Amino acid sequence: MKSLDWLLLLLIITITVSISVEAQNQAGFISLDCGLVPKETTYVEKTTNITYKSDADYIDSGLPGKINDAYKTLFQQQTWSLRSFPEGQRNCYNFFNLTTNRKYLIRGTFMYGNYDGLNQLPSFDLHIGASNWSSVKIRGATNTSMHEIIHVVTQDHLQVCLVKTGPTTPFISSLEFRPLSNESYVTESGSLKLSARVYFPSASASFIRYDEDLSDRVWDTYTDDKTASISTELSVNTNNFYEVPQAVMKTAAVPVDASKPWHFSWTIDDASAKSYIYMHIAEIQALNASDIREFDITYNDGTPWYSYFRPAKQSITTIFNPSAVKSKDGLFNFTFAKTGNSTLPPLINALEIYTVVDILQLETEKSEVSAMMNLKKTYGLSKKISWQGDPCAPQVFRWEGLNCSYSNTESSRIISLNLNGSGLTGTITSDISKLTQLVELDLSRNDLSGEIPVFFADMKLLKLINLSGNPKLNMTIPDSLLEMVKSKSLTLILGEALSPKSESSKVPMVAIGASVAGVFVLIVIVAIFFVVRRKKGKTTEEGLEISGKAPGTPPSATNRSVNAETRSSNPSIITKDRRITYPEVLKMTNNFERVLGKGGFGTVYHGNLDNAEVAVKMLSHSSAQGYKEFKAEVELLLRVHHRHLVGLVGYCDDGDNLALIYEYMANGDLRENMLGKRGGNVLTWENRMQIAVEAAQGLEYLHNGCRPPMVHRDVKTTNILLNERSGAKLADFGLSRSFPLDGESNVMTVVAGTPGYLDPEYYRTNWLSETSDVYSFGVVLLEIVTNQPVIEKTRERPHINEWVGFMLTKGDIKSIVDPKLMGDFDTNGAWKIVELALACVNPSSNRRPTMAHVVMELNECVALEIARRQGSATMNSMGSFDYSHSSASEFAPGAR
Ligand SMILES: *[C@@H]1O[C@H](CO)[C@@H](O)[C@H](O)[C@H]1NC(C)=O
Ligand SMILES: *[C@@H]1O[C@H](CO)[C@@H](O)[C@H](O)[C@H]1NC(C)=O
Ligand SMILES: *[C@@H]1O[C@H](CO)[C@@H](O)[C@H](O)[C@H]1NC(C)=O
Ligand SMILES: *[C@@H]1O[C@H](CO)[C@@H](O)[C@H](O)[C@H]1NC(C)=O
Ligand SMILES: *[C@@H]1O[C@H](CO)[C@@H](O)[C@H](O)[C@H]1NC(C)=O
Ligand SMILES: *[C@@H]1O[C@H](CO)[C@@H](O)[C@H](O)[C@H]1NC(C)=O
Ligand SMILES: *[C@@H]1O[C@H](CO)[C@@H](O)[C@H](O)[C@H]1NC(C)=O
Ligand SMILES: *[C@@H]1O[C@H](CO)[C@@H](O)[C@H](O)[C@H]1NC(C)=O
Ligand SMILES: *[C@@H]1O[C@H](CO)[C@@H](O)[C@H](O)[C@H]1NC(C)=O
Repeated sequence: MKSLDWLLLLLIITITVSISVEAQNQAGFISLDCGLVPKETTYVEKTTNITYKSDADYIDSGLPGKINDAYKTLFQQQTWSLRSFPEGQRNCYNFFNLTTNRKYLIRGTFMYGNYDGLNQLPSFDLHIGASNWSSVKIRGATNTSMHEIIHVVTQDHLQVCLVKTGPTTPFISSLEFRPLSNESYVTESGSLKLSARVYFPSASASFIRYDEDLSDRVWDTYTDDKTASISTELSVNTNNFYEVPQAVMKTAAVPVDASKPWHFSWTIDDASAKSYIYMHIAEIQALNASDIREFDITYNDGTPWYSYFRPAKQSITTIFNPSAVKSKDGLFNFTFAKTGNSTLPPLINALEIYTVVDILQLETEKSEVSAMMNLKKTYGLSKKISWQGDPCAPQVFRWEGLNCSYSNTESSRIISLNLNGSGLTGTITSDISKLTQLVELDLSRNDLSGEIPVFFADMKLLKLINLSGNPKLNMTIPDSLLEMVKSKSLTLILGEALSPKSESSKVPMVAIGASVAGVFVLIVIVAIFFVVRRKKGKTTEEGLEISGKAPGTPPSATNRSVNAETRSSNPSIITKDRRITYPEVLKMTNNFERVLGKGGFGTVYHGNLDNAEVAVKMLSHSSAQGYKEFKAEVELLLRVHHRHLVGLVGYCDDGDNLALIYEYMANGDLRENMLGKRGGNVLTWENRMQIAVEAAQGLEYLHNGCRPPMVHRDVKTTNILLNERSGAKLADFGLSRSFPLDGESNVMTVVAGTPGYLDPEYYRTNWLSETSDVYSFGVVLLEIVTNQPVIEKTRERPHINEWVGFMLTKGDIKSIVDPKLMGDFDTNGAWKIVELALACVNPSSNRRPTMAHVVMELNECVALEIARRQGSATMNSMGSFDYSHSSASEFAPGAR
């Protein structure tokens, strides 16, 4: 009875289908060699004749790398280069133009090859769409790990993601898609992850793949001491949906001891996993008239699998279970036993074992995915770390700035989009109108221009739109939108919130509360908008509006609280009347007793003000452009407070004597620290990353936190000062409009800047802008990494930018990093920061990143360094193989 059940459950396939073999040449294959550069490269791999191309069109993150040269000759070419993902938790490949409902074999190949020189074996997860596909654990520097899944694509696009799960960096060597017959490998539900695919050749044979296997499955060899191999010269009829290659079917395994039952066993790691098992069998021995080969297949405690099976002569039979099977401990122990009438032992030609991967169907609504992809492209947001893969799913990897609604039965929908301070330029894209379920939209603190789009009025669920802090935006409100505002269904924020801590943090709360309660509170801050506008019309002295950042933006959340702290720790300085007389200056500096240095515009002396140390900068009167301008600027600067800006605490304009009084920075400037002039230890890599990110935050604040934005004009390492805890602050900003720099005396356009740091575009435009600061900051980053002078006439390339570019053509980051670090730095972090610096010093200003972007990238560098320090302590705990005999997912494709 039981046996009969199984007979019904198991299907055997002997159907002959006509498959055209010739015209199938790599049709529908996608063969990516990951990290292959330059991106146009393609080549034909020598042993398989498969044409590989670069993965660059399928992904916009990650860094190209190469395995150690010594290993190359051992492996197929697609494993020589790789792409690694030091940034972000999830990085995704995007495949477009797939055939909907087509079944694909998808294979990722991973060859570590000590590409990063760290000799730390990575482990990470692979996802297919929003579903967990597999866990990759690299077991040795030269172990090729292959992960395969048989998956039906339900849409025309698919994402394959690498997900960081621990301290090590995910990477991938190649990624391949192979279309399969949709009649093969059919499951009740879910996709099939490969555990093993083996055939049974004589000992010397190697694995088989394309072009013997037209679907490019990889068939690994299997041998053990209880199994002997037989083979045939005659061809085997292999025409069924599985298209098993001739070379696989022409060999078979038989037990060495023909009289005893024969066992095959394996263990599935995850005991709860469901399995599908495929056995391909053909009689390949020439039998005598009297010979019979007949056997029973059972598993575990004698559960029948297939009974009285007689292999067909030179013709394939595929035995498989149409419903998934489980075993309680993950062990599958198959017994092949010949029947009483059989004169010959059992036989098998090939075996495939898969486990089921459940596919989550709660991906984001298709139209919203493409809207977000377009939006990402339109605004050049490819560097947003978390903007990878499906926007909403899985929930833990939801894109930063998004909120989604989730349901068990329907696609996820985007309900809020926050692009606050994301450096958006250009007009507001109509892609936003495709997010039809959107309730909240925050586009504040960007550089958007054009008009407020009318389509907002068609987005009926919108409750809150924040467009503040976009000075170029035409704030005329379309009538239809104004109607919504008047009918109190929509809150529209246009101007900068005047008192950020109290008001703008309340606004979203009110909006949410209102939408929940169904009572909509109107808070149009149009009034504020008018205030701002009116101010702009006036002279610059009043036009500057120092605003806190809107709540909830990444850097400001911490900044604000620490800011408050800094202020309250020196209340005496801040609250004092800031105007000081000359006699007071004399007293304060003890008659200019101690010179701290000579900075831009004048000599700096040590002083004491209300028991706090200060730095007093005496300005040479002749350098001032005009007293009125000086005073106006100083008044403005007194209002700029940021944790990473050296604060101006007072000034003196007594007769001919002009002085500026700054907070005191005990540890001098970054340049002297880098040169070791102040004694002490070398600044560690971590110190340097920290200083870089802090200085960047200061500069970012000048650009984005001040209204109107302030251009520093003289960013350089001597203007980055360190306090007693090596916290960094940016000095000497904001004055250059009324003071030309040392030695410069152009009256028309005030030249600021220091040779080597000065934006090359300045020479053409005579104009310094935020992007000029970004350029100078890029030079600073290069100094931080290399500790080389900015200009050194005796070097192969005198300017540091060119020198770094020149050295990098040799591909060795170590040759440029400050030798004083003795190699104690994170290579990935170094690459990242150098790439960032080179982007900053791009000769063309519109291709430079914004400071907001720079801050974000530098934060990642700090995180990498911290991860490295923690990671070096917790390495190396390796799991066991997936199944007992051999591991088809772990083998080395060698030359054949
Ligand atoms: C690759 O293609 C060339 C030319 O068509 C052929 O000579 C060679 O045998 C092929 N190699 C393999 C491994 O198929
Ligand atoms: C998809 O195919 C269409 C038409 O063949 C093409 O225009 C489009 O660029 C393709 N998209 C991608 C992402 O390759
Ligand atoms: C993903 O699946 C693998 C097994 O295939 C498992 O080891 C890993 O823990 C899973 N990851 C998550 C995040 O569930
Ligand atoms: C793969 O790793 C295992 C376990 O570390 C090792 O025994 C084996 O030799 C490695 N294989 C190759 C090809 O390096
Ligand atoms: C396979 O695809 C064909 C046409 O694309 C379709 O008619 C057939 O139902 C599919 N079979 C399965 C098992 O999905
Ligand atoms: C066929 O029969 C002959 C003699 O009876 C024997 O020697 C030979 O081994 C047999 N072949 C097979 C495949 O059993
Ligand atoms: C499989 O079953 C056979 C007989 O029941 C037993 O001898 C053998 O040890 C089992 N193998 C494993 C790995 O449990
Ligand atoms: C052997 O084969 C004969 C004839 O086909 C059949 O009647 C008999 O039941 C078989 N015996 C066994 C033990 O399978
Ligand atoms: C802003 O847009 C309105 C409506 O399109 C237009 O009338 C007005 O001239 C624009 N203002 C500016 C400054 O461009």
